[in-house]
Amino acid sequence: MKIFLDTANIEEIKKAVEWGIIDGVTTNPTLVSKENAIFEERIVEICDCVKGPVSAEVVSMDSEGMIKEAKELVKLNEHIVIKIPMTQEGIKALKVLSSLGIKTNVTLIFNPLQAILAAKCGATYVSPFIGRLDDIGHDGMEIIEQITQIFYNYNYTTEIIVASVRHPEHILQSALHGADIVTVPFPILQKLFSHPLTEKGIESFNKDWEKYKNYLESKNS
Ligand code: E4P
Repeated sequence: MKIFLDTANIEEIKKAVEWGIIDGVTTNPTLVSKENAIFEERIVEICDCVKGPVSAEVVSMDSEGMIKEAKELVKLNEHIVIKIPMTQEGIKALKVLSSLGIKTNVTLIFNPLQAILAAKCGATYVSPFIGRLDDIGHDGMEIIEQITQIFYNYNYTTEIIVASVRHPEHILQSALHGADIVTVPFPILQKLFSHPLTEKGIESFNKDWEKYKNYLESKNS
């Protein structure tokens, strides 16, 4: 399973790249707005750090506007993926962008039927938002299971990016359901490293190693 980082924060991206565990980045207008940066400049900075797909979202509501924005954005870097909202206008734009060979990520997917429409129109990726479904009392992970099954049934090549991830369990379940990618906020990515028994184990190994060094010292003196 590929791991993308869900952020527009350059420090977080640099850290995760150093760890060597991220394959791409997803951004959205909210994440960019937190950064006090110029959108296009920040997207280029992100592309310079991550040698993988970087999703940049269009903000027009009509298909012509979306296509125009997409054509400008893809000039910035070869790794840019155009994030398009799941609307009728978005799907119209998607069809055109797919025919031009522009990579796309259809966002704000909340049920498998929306994912089918996006896949039929050639989306490179779909982003089902599972945390936001959980927030309103639904089981977000259920749509991951369903979309995975449907894409398998019809050999759709569209990849599933599990989005709106709230905790490590979402990542585990995504992997068990065979999702292609999970896009993870930095604080949640950090949590994946630790386990209390790992820390306890390191502590006791270090203590025992000190004892061993003392033994060697006493032997040689
Ligand atoms: C995905 O591409 C989105 O940027 C993101 O996962 C949205 O998550 P949220 O529901 O935490 O805003």
